[in-house]
Amino acid sequence: MASSTISTLFNALFDRDRRSAIEKCASIADIRLLAHKNVPQVIFDFVDGGAGGEITLRNNQADFERISLLPQCLVDVSAQDTRTHYAGQRYDLPFYFGPAGLIRVVGNGGELSAVAAAGRAGVPYTISTSSSYSIEEIAAVASGPLWFQLYLWRNQQVVSNLIERAAMVGCEALVLTVDVPLNANRLRDLRNGMSIPPKVSVSTALDSLRRPRWLKDILSGEPIGFRNFMGIAEGNSALSQSEFINKELANLAASWQDLRQLREKWQKRIYIKGILTAHDAEMAIACGVDGIIVSNHGGRQLDSVPSAISALPEIVRVVNGRCDVILDGGVRSGIDVVKALCLGASAVSLARPWVFGVAAAGEAGASRVIDILTIELRQTLALLGAPAVSALGPQLARFPSGWLSQPER
Ligand SMILES: Cc1cc2nc3c(=O)[nH]c(=O)nc-3n(C[C@H](O)[C@H](O)[C@H](O)COP(=O)(O)O)c2cc1C
Repeated sequence: MASSTISTLFNALFDRDRRSAIEKCASIADIRLLAHKNVPQVIFDFVDGGAGGEITLRNNQADFERISLLPQCLVDVSAQDTRTHYAGQRYDLPFYFGPAGLIRVVGNGGELSAVAAAGRAGVPYTISTSSSYSIEEIAAVASGPLWFQLYLWRNQQVVSNLIERAAMVGCEALVLTVDVPLNANRLRDLRNGMSIPPKVSVSTALDSLRRPRWLKDILSGEPIGFRNFMGIAEGNSALSQSEFINKELANLAASWQDLRQLREKWQKRIYIKGILTAHDAEMAIACGVDGIIVSNHGGRQLDSVPSAISALPEIVRVVNGRCDVILDGGVRSGIDVVKALCLGASAVSLARPWVFGVAAAGEAGASRVIDILTIELRQTLALLGAPAVSALGPQLARFPSGWLSQPER
Protein backbone atom coordinates (compact mmCIF):
# COMPACT_ATOMS: atom_id res chain seq x y z
CA MET A 1 0.00 0.00 0.00
CA ALA A 2 2.69 2.44 1.13
CA SER A 3 4.90 1.45 -1.80
CA SER A 4 2.09 1.99 -4.35
CA THR A 5 1.42 5.46 -2.88
CA ILE A 6 5.10 6.31 -3.14
CA SER A 7 5.17 5.03 -6.72
CA THR A 8 2.08 7.14 -7.66
CA LEU A 9 3.65 10.20 -6.06
CA PHE A 10 6.94 9.51 -7.82
CA ASN A 11 5.16 9.25 -11.21
CA ALA A 12 3.08 12.38 -10.63
CA LEU A 13 6.16 14.40 -9.71
CA PHE A 14 8.11 13.14 -12.71
CA ASP A 15 5.18 13.71 -15.08
CA ARG A 16 4.70 17.30 -13.93
CA ASP A 17 8.40 17.97 -14.20
CA ARG A 18 8.56 16.41 -17.65
CA ARG A 19 5.55 18.34 -18.96
CA SER A 20 6.96 21.66 -17.88
CA ALA A 21 10.42 20.82 -19.27
CA ILE A 22 9.03 19.89 -22.72
CA GLU A 23 6.83 22.97 -22.83
CA LYS A 24 9.91 25.12 -22.31
CA CYS A 25 11.64 23.58 -25.34
CA ALA A 26 11.61 26.15 -28.15
CA SER A 27 13.38 24.16 -30.85
CA ILE A 28 14.24 20.61 -31.90
CA ALA A 29 17.77 21.33 -30.62
CA ASP A 30 16.30 22.01 -27.15
CA ILE A 31 14.39 18.72 -27.29
CA ARG A 32 17.59 16.89 -28.21
CA LEU A 33 19.28 18.37 -25.12
CA LEU A 34 16.37 17.36 -22.89
CA ALA A 35 16.52 13.83 -24.34
CA HIS A 36 20.24 13.75 -23.58
CA LYS A 37 19.51 14.59 -19.93
CA ASN A 38 16.86 11.85 -19.63
CA VAL A 39 18.72 8.83 -20.99
CA PRO A 40 22.15 7.30 -20.30
CA GLN A 41 24.95 8.25 -22.70
CA VAL A 42 24.93 4.80 -24.32
CA ILE A 43 21.29 5.29 -25.38
CA PHE A 44 21.77 8.88 -26.49
CA ASP A 45 24.72 7.83 -28.64
CA PHE A 46 22.71 5.00 -30.20
CA VAL A 47 20.18 7.56 -31.46
CA ASP A 48 22.44 10.53 -32.11
CA GLY A 49 25.41 8.71 -33.65
CA GLY A 50 26.34 7.69 -37.15
CA ALA A 51 28.68 5.36 -38.97
CA GLY A 52 32.45 5.63 -39.32
CA GLY A 53 33.84 9.14 -38.92
CA GLU A 54 30.27 10.57 -38.99
CA ILE A 55 31.12 12.74 -42.02
CA THR A 56 27.77 12.10 -43.70
CA LEU A 57 25.94 12.52 -40.40
CA ARG A 58 27.45 16.00 -39.96
CA ASN A 59 26.89 17.01 -43.60
CA ASN A 60 23.22 16.00 -43.47
CA GLN A 61 22.59 18.96 -41.19
CA ALA A 62 25.44 21.26 -42.23
CA ASP A 63 24.43 21.29 -45.91
CA PHE A 64 21.08 22.86 -45.05
CA GLU A 65 23.11 25.92 -44.07
CA ARG A 66 24.42 26.15 -47.64
CA ILE A 67 20.94 26.90 -48.96
CA SER A 68 19.72 30.51 -48.94
CA LEU A 69 16.07 31.47 -49.07
CA LEU A 70 15.05 34.30 -51.45
CA PRO A 71 12.05 36.12 -49.98
CA GLN A 72 9.26 37.77 -51.95
CA CYS A 73 7.91 40.90 -50.32
CA LEU A 74 4.36 42.25 -50.16
CA VAL A 75 2.63 38.98 -50.90
CA ASP A 76 -0.58 38.20 -49.00
CA VAL A 77 0.53 35.47 -46.61
CA SER A 78 -2.42 35.50 -44.24
CA ALA A 79 -3.30 31.86 -45.07
CA GLN A 80 0.05 30.03 -44.56
CA ASP A 81 -1.51 26.90 -46.01
CA THR A 82 0.60 23.90 -44.96
CA ARG A 83 -1.41 21.27 -46.81
CA THR A 84 0.65 19.03 -49.06
CA HIS A 85 -0.10 16.36 -51.61
CA TYR A 86 2.01 13.19 -51.54
CA ALA A 87 1.48 9.44 -51.49
CA GLY A 88 -1.69 10.04 -53.49
CA GLN A 89 -3.35 12.00 -50.69
CA ARG A 90 -3.64 15.42 -49.18
CA TYR A 91 -2.06 15.82 -45.75
CA ASP A 92 -2.23 18.79 -43.41
CA LEU A 93 1.55 18.86 -43.01
CA PRO A 94 4.47 18.20 -45.39
CA PHE A 95 6.40 15.94 -42.99
CA TYR A 96 5.90 12.49 -41.46
CA PHE A 97 7.60 10.08 -39.05
CA GLY A 98 10.06 7.77 -40.81
CA PRO A 99 11.12 4.37 -39.48
CA ALA A 100 13.25 4.00 -36.36
CA GLY A 101 13.73 0.64 -34.68
CA LEU A 102 14.31 -0.42 -31.08
CA ILE A 103 12.95 2.82 -29.67
CA ARG A 104 11.75 1.29 -26.40
CA VAL A 105 15.36 1.79 -25.30
CA VAL A 106 14.70 5.51 -24.85
CA GLY A 107 11.87 4.76 -22.40
CA ASN A 108 8.61 6.73 -22.20
CA GLY A 109 6.65 4.21 -24.27
CA GLY A 110 9.01 4.17 -27.26
CA GLU A 111 7.29 3.69 -30.61
CA LEU A 112 3.82 3.57 -28.99
CA SER A 113 4.15 7.19 -27.83
CA ALA A 114 5.34 8.32 -31.25
CA VAL A 115 2.58 6.63 -33.23
CA ALA A 116 -0.04 8.10 -30.89
CA ALA A 117 1.35 11.62 -31.36
CA ALA A 118 1.61 11.18 -35.14
CA GLY A 119 -1.99 9.94 -35.33
CA ARG A 120 -3.33 12.93 -33.43
CA ALA A 121 -1.66 15.28 -35.93
CA GLY A 122 -2.68 13.21 -38.98
CA VAL A 123 1.00 12.62 -39.78
CA PRO A 124 1.88 9.19 -41.28
CA TYR A 125 3.95 6.92 -39.03
CA THR A 126 6.30 4.31 -40.49
CA ILE A 127 6.52 1.09 -38.49
CA SER A 128 10.08 -0.23 -38.59
CA THR A 129 10.75 -3.90 -39.22
CA SER A 130 13.11 -3.72 -36.23
CA SER A 131 10.74 -1.88 -33.94
CA SER A 132 10.70 -2.92 -30.31
CA TYR A 133 6.93 -3.39 -30.47
CA SER A 134 5.24 -5.57 -33.07
CA ILE A 135 3.32 -4.32 -36.10
CA GLU A 136 0.09 -5.30 -34.34
CA GLU A 137 0.99 -3.65 -31.02
CA ILE A 138 1.83 -0.38 -32.77
CA ALA A 139 -1.24 -0.50 -35.01
CA ALA A 140 -3.44 -1.02 -31.93
CA VAL A 141 -2.65 2.49 -30.64
CA ALA A 142 -2.48 4.21 -34.05
CA SER A 143 -5.19 6.63 -35.11
CA GLY A 144 -3.57 7.96 -38.29
CA PRO A 145 -2.02 6.65 -41.50
CA LEU A 146 0.49 3.80 -41.12
CA TRP A 147 3.33 2.79 -43.43
CA PHE A 148 5.54 -0.26 -42.99
CA GLN A 149 9.32 -0.37 -43.52
CA LEU A 150 10.83 -3.56 -44.88
CA TYR A 151 14.30 -4.89 -45.72
CA LEU A 152 14.96 -7.25 -48.63
CA TRP A 153 15.38 -10.28 -46.39
CA ARG A 154 17.06 -13.41 -47.62
CA ASN A 155 14.15 -15.46 -46.36
CA GLN A 156 11.10 -14.93 -48.60
CA GLN A 157 8.76 -16.47 -46.04
CA VAL A 158 9.75 -13.78 -43.57
CA VAL A 159 9.08 -11.08 -46.19
CA SER A 160 5.66 -12.55 -46.98
CA ASN A 161 4.82 -12.89 -43.29
CA LEU A 162 5.71 -9.25 -42.57
CA ILE A 163 3.92 -7.72 -45.54
CA GLU A 164 0.79 -9.80 -44.93
CA ARG A 165 0.72 -8.55 -41.35
CA ALA A 166 1.33 -4.96 -42.50
CA ALA A 167 -1.58 -5.28 -44.94
CA MET A 168 -3.79 -6.81 -42.23
CA VAL A 169 -3.36 -3.79 -39.93
CA GLY A 170 -4.04 -1.40 -42.83
CA CYS A 171 -0.59 -0.08 -43.72
CA GLU A 172 -1.01 2.15 -46.75
CA ALA A 173 2.54 1.93 -48.10
CA LEU A 174 5.70 -0.14 -47.94
CA VAL A 175 8.99 1.64 -47.40
CA LEU A 176 11.72 -0.60 -48.74
CA THR A 177 15.07 0.24 -47.18
CA VAL A 178 17.90 -0.62 -49.58
CA ASP A 179 21.00 0.84 -47.93
CA VAL A 180 21.51 -1.93 -45.37
CA PRO A 181 23.10 -4.95 -47.10
CA LEU A 182 24.79 -5.24 -43.71
CA ASN A 183 25.02 -3.05 -40.63
CA ALA A 184 27.77 -0.44 -40.79
CA ASN A 185 30.14 0.10 -37.88
CA ARG A 186 28.74 2.72 -35.56
CA LEU A 187 31.78 3.49 -33.49
CA ARG A 188 29.95 5.06 -30.56
CA ASP A 189 27.85 1.90 -30.19
CA LEU A 190 30.89 -0.37 -30.47
CA ARG A 191 32.77 1.61 -27.82
CA ASN A 192 29.73 1.83 -25.52
CA GLY A 193 28.83 -1.87 -25.79
CA MET A 194 25.41 -0.96 -27.19
CA SER A 195 23.83 -4.23 -28.28
CA ILE A 196 20.82 -6.43 -27.52
CA PRO A 197 21.17 -7.57 -24.83
CA PRO A 198 23.48 -4.70 -23.72
CA LYS A 199 27.01 -5.26 -22.50
CA VAL A 200 26.76 -3.44 -19.20
CA SER A 201 29.91 -1.81 -17.85
CA VAL A 202 30.30 -0.20 -14.42
CA SER A 203 30.09 3.28 -15.90
CA THR A 204 26.95 2.42 -17.92
CA ALA A 205 25.36 0.96 -14.79
CA LEU A 206 26.15 4.08 -12.75
CA ASP A 207 24.93 6.33 -15.55
CA SER A 208 21.65 4.35 -15.63
CA LEU A 209 21.19 4.57 -11.87
CA ARG A 210 21.27 8.35 -12.15
CA ARG A 211 18.12 8.17 -14.31
CA PRO A 212 15.53 6.36 -12.16
CA ARG A 213 12.57 7.24 -14.37
CA TRP A 214 14.27 5.80 -17.44
CA LEU A 215 15.47 2.74 -15.50
CA LYS A 216 11.96 2.04 -14.24
CA ASP A 217 10.61 2.16 -17.83
CA ILE A 218 13.30 -0.14 -19.12
CA LEU A 219 12.96 -2.72 -16.38
CA SER A 220 9.17 -2.89 -16.49
CA GLY A 221 7.43 -5.22 -18.92
CA GLU A 222 9.05 -7.72 -21.27
CA PRO A 223 12.77 -7.50 -22.01
CA ILE A 224 13.47 -5.18 -24.94
CA GLY A 225 13.74 -6.98 -28.27
CA PHE A 226 12.46 -7.04 -31.83
CA ARG A 227 8.91 -8.17 -31.26
CA ASN A 228 8.02 -8.56 -34.95
CA PHE A 229 10.00 -11.78 -34.78
CA MET A 230 8.23 -13.39 -31.85
CA GLY A 231 7.23 -16.82 -33.02
CA ILE A 232 9.47 -16.51 -36.10
CA ALA A 233 12.88 -16.48 -34.45
CA GLU A 234 13.73 -19.66 -32.60
CA GLY A 235 13.02 -18.95 -28.94
CA ASN A 236 11.33 -15.77 -27.82
CA SER A 237 14.21 -14.12 -26.00
CA ALA A 238 15.49 -10.71 -27.04
CA LEU A 239 18.83 -12.34 -27.82
CA SER A 240 17.33 -14.92 -30.18
CA GLN A 241 15.34 -12.21 -31.99
CA SER A 242 18.49 -10.11 -32.31
CA GLU A 243 20.56 -13.04 -33.61
CA PHE A 244 17.81 -13.87 -36.07
CA ILE A 245 17.75 -10.30 -37.39
CA ASN A 246 21.52 -10.21 -37.80
CA LYS A 247 21.51 -13.50 -39.67
CA GLU A 248 18.57 -12.65 -41.92
CA LEU A 249 19.39 -9.01 -42.48
CA ALA A 250 22.76 -9.65 -44.06
CA ASN A 251 21.32 -10.18 -47.52
CA LEU A 252 24.37 -9.27 -49.55
CA ALA A 253 22.78 -10.77 -52.66
CA ALA A 254 19.71 -8.49 -52.81
CA SER A 255 19.12 -7.08 -56.31
CA TRP A 256 16.67 -5.05 -58.39
CA GLN A 257 15.03 -8.37 -59.26
CA ASP A 258 13.92 -8.68 -55.61
CA LEU A 259 12.26 -5.27 -55.89
CA ARG A 260 10.45 -6.38 -59.06
CA GLN A 261 9.17 -9.45 -57.19
CA LEU A 262 8.06 -7.34 -54.27
CA ARG A 263 6.23 -5.06 -56.70
CA GLU A 264 4.19 -8.07 -57.81
CA LYS A 265 3.40 -9.12 -54.24
CA TRP A 266 2.39 -5.73 -52.80
CA GLN A 267 -0.44 -3.95 -54.61
CA LYS A 268 -0.35 -0.67 -52.66
CA ARG A 269 2.34 2.01 -52.71
CA ILE A 270 6.05 1.20 -52.53
CA TYR A 271 8.63 3.81 -51.53
CA ILE A 272 12.30 2.96 -51.92
CA LYS A 273 14.45 4.41 -49.12
CA GLY A 274 18.19 4.97 -49.44
CA ILE A 275 18.54 6.38 -52.97
CA LEU A 276 21.29 8.95 -53.55
CA THR A 277 21.99 8.90 -57.29
CA ALA A 278 20.13 9.62 -60.52
CA HIS A 279 21.07 6.16 -61.81
CA ASP A 280 19.43 4.36 -58.89
CA ALA A 281 16.39 6.64 -59.10
CA GLU A 282 15.93 5.57 -62.75
CA MET A 283 16.33 1.89 -61.82
CA ALA A 284 13.74 2.24 -59.04
CA ILE A 285 11.22 3.91 -61.35
CA ALA A 286 11.74 1.15 -63.91
CA CYS A 287 10.82 -1.35 -61.16
CA GLY A 288 7.54 0.48 -60.59
CA VAL A 289 8.04 2.31 -57.28
CA ASP A 290 5.63 5.07 -56.31
CA GLY A 291 8.21 7.19 -54.59
CA ILE A 292 11.90 7.68 -53.94
CA ILE A 293 13.16 8.53 -50.48
CA VAL A 294 16.45 10.36 -50.89
CA SER A 295 18.34 9.11 -47.85
CA ASN A 296 21.65 7.94 -46.45
CA HIS A 297 20.01 6.36 -43.40
CA GLY A 298 20.77 9.47 -41.35
CA GLY A 299 24.51 8.90 -41.79
CA ARG A 300 24.24 5.50 -40.09
CA GLN A 301 25.29 3.31 -43.03
CA LEU A 302 27.97 4.08 -45.68
CA ASP A 303 29.99 7.07 -44.45
CA SER A 304 31.21 9.74 -46.91
CA VAL A 305 28.21 9.54 -49.21
CA PRO A 306 26.57 12.90 -50.06
CA SER A 307 24.24 14.53 -47.60
CA ALA A 308 20.60 13.78 -48.40
CA ILE A 309 19.75 17.43 -49.14
CA SER A 310 22.67 17.82 -51.59
CA ALA A 311 21.58 14.67 -53.45
CA LEU A 312 17.99 15.90 -53.74
CA PRO A 313 18.09 18.41 -56.65
CA GLU A 314 19.66 16.00 -59.13
CA ILE A 315 17.16 13.26 -58.27
CA VAL A 316 14.24 15.69 -58.54
CA ARG A 317 15.57 16.70 -61.96
CA VAL A 318 15.77 13.17 -63.37
CA VAL A 319 12.53 11.98 -61.79
CA ASN A 320 10.80 14.96 -63.38
CA GLY A 321 7.44 14.39 -61.70
CA ARG A 322 7.17 10.66 -62.49
CA CYS A 323 6.82 9.79 -58.78
CA ASP A 324 7.11 11.37 -55.33
CA VAL A 325 10.57 12.36 -54.13
CA ILE A 326 10.90 12.51 -50.35
CA LEU A 327 13.83 14.00 -48.46
CA ASP A 328 15.08 12.06 -45.42
CA GLY A 329 17.92 13.20 -43.18
CA GLY A 330 19.11 16.22 -41.24
CA VAL A 331 15.80 18.10 -40.98
CA ARG A 332 15.75 19.93 -37.64
CA SER A 333 13.52 22.97 -38.20
CA GLY A 334 10.62 24.38 -40.18
CA ILE A 335 13.16 26.32 -42.26
CA ASP A 336 14.81 23.01 -43.21
CA VAL A 337 11.41 21.65 -44.25
CA VAL A 338 10.83 24.71 -46.45
CA LYS A 339 14.30 24.41 -48.01
CA ALA A 340 13.73 20.76 -48.92
CA LEU A 341 10.34 21.60 -50.46
CA CYS A 342 11.86 24.50 -52.44
CA LEU A 343 14.41 22.06 -53.86
CA GLY A 344 11.59 19.85 -55.10
CA ALA A 345 10.82 17.36 -52.31
CA SER A 346 7.18 16.23 -52.20
CA ALA A 347 7.49 15.80 -48.41
CA VAL A 348 10.06 15.32 -45.66
CA SER A 349 10.72 12.29 -43.46
CA LEU A 350 11.92 12.67 -39.85
CA ALA A 351 13.56 10.19 -37.50
CA ARG A 352 15.86 11.54 -34.78
CA PRO A 353 13.57 14.51 -34.05
CA TRP A 354 10.66 12.26 -33.02
CA VAL A 355 12.93 9.80 -31.22
CA PHE A 356 14.39 12.69 -29.19
CA GLY A 357 10.83 13.88 -28.55
CA VAL A 358 9.88 10.50 -27.09
CA ALA A 359 13.09 10.35 -25.02
CA ALA A 360 12.36 13.85 -23.72
CA ALA A 361 8.70 13.39 -22.75
CA GLY A 362 6.97 10.42 -24.40
CA GLU A 363 3.87 11.23 -26.43
CA ALA A 364 3.92 14.88 -25.28
CA GLY A 365 7.51 15.11 -26.54
CA ALA A 366 6.71 13.69 -29.98
CA SER A 367 3.72 16.06 -30.19
CA ARG A 368 5.94 18.99 -29.23
CA VAL A 369 8.23 18.10 -32.17
CA ILE A 370 5.27 18.29 -34.55
CA ASP A 371 4.07 21.55 -32.98
CA ILE A 372 7.47 23.25 -33.15
CA LEU A 373 8.00 22.24 -36.78
CA THR A 374 4.49 23.41 -37.67
CA ILE A 375 4.92 26.80 -35.99
CA GLU A 376 8.31 27.27 -37.65
CA LEU A 377 6.95 26.15 -41.01
CA ARG A 378 4.07 28.63 -40.92
CA GLN A 379 6.35 31.41 -39.80
CA THR A 380 8.84 30.66 -42.58
CA LEU A 381 6.08 30.65 -45.21
CA ALA A 382 4.93 34.07 -44.03
CA LEU A 383 8.42 35.57 -43.87
CA LEU A 384 9.37 34.11 -47.24
CA GLY A 385 6.29 35.50 -48.96
CA ALA A 386 4.87 32.08 -49.81
CA PRO A 387 1.15 31.83 -49.02
CA ALA A 388 1.18 28.02 -49.19
CA VAL A 389 3.46 25.02 -49.27
CA SER A 390 2.26 24.54 -52.85
CA ALA A 391 3.83 27.92 -53.73
CA LEU A 392 7.34 26.78 -52.76
CA GLY A 393 9.80 26.14 -55.56
CA PRO A 394 13.34 26.74 -56.87
CA GLN A 395 12.61 30.46 -57.42
CA LEU A 396 12.68 30.88 -53.63
CA ALA A 397 16.00 29.19 -52.85
CA ARG A 398 19.61 29.25 -53.92
CA PHE A 399 21.84 26.19 -53.47
CA PRO A 400 25.38 25.23 -54.54
CA SER A 401 25.44 24.60 -58.30
CA GLY A 402 27.54 21.45 -57.79
CA TRP A 403 24.46 19.75 -56.34
CA LEU A 404 23.13 19.43 -59.90
CA SER A 405 25.29 17.45 -62.30
CA GLN A 406 23.97 19.72 -65.08
CA PRO A 407 23.83 23.10 -63.41
CA GLU A 408 20.59 24.38 -64.93
CA ARG A 409 17.47 25.42 -63.03
C1 LIG B 1 17.62 5.21 -33.65
C2 LIG B 1 17.37 5.04 -35.11
C3 LIG B 1 16.84 3.86 -35.59
C4 LIG B 1 16.60 3.71 -36.95
N1 LIG B 1 16.01 2.55 -37.40
C5 LIG B 1 15.72 2.43 -38.72
C6 LIG B 1 15.04 1.29 -39.20
O1 LIG B 1 14.70 0.40 -38.45
N2 LIG B 1 14.79 1.22 -40.55
C7 LIG B 1 15.14 2.21 -41.42
O2 LIG B 1 14.89 2.10 -42.61
N3 LIG B 1 15.78 3.32 -40.97
C8 LIG B 1 16.06 3.46 -39.66
N4 LIG B 1 16.68 4.58 -39.21
C9 LIG B 1 17.03 5.66 -40.18
C10 LIG B 1 15.91 6.68 -40.27
O3 LIG B 1 14.74 6.15 -40.81
C11 LIG B 1 16.32 7.86 -41.17
O4 LIG B 1 16.74 7.39 -42.43
C12 LIG B 1 17.40 8.75 -40.63
O5 LIG B 1 17.56 8.70 -39.24
C13 LIG B 1 17.05 10.17 -41.12
O6 LIG B 1 17.81 11.11 -40.57
P1 LIG B 1 17.34 12.04 -39.32
O7 LIG B 1 17.47 11.15 -38.13
O8 LIG B 1 18.36 13.11 -39.42
O9 LIG B 1 15.93 12.53 -39.53
C14 LIG B 1 16.93 4.76 -37.85
C15 LIG B 1 17.45 5.95 -37.36
C16 LIG B 1 17.67 6.10 -36.00
C17 LIG B 1 18.23 7.41 -35.50
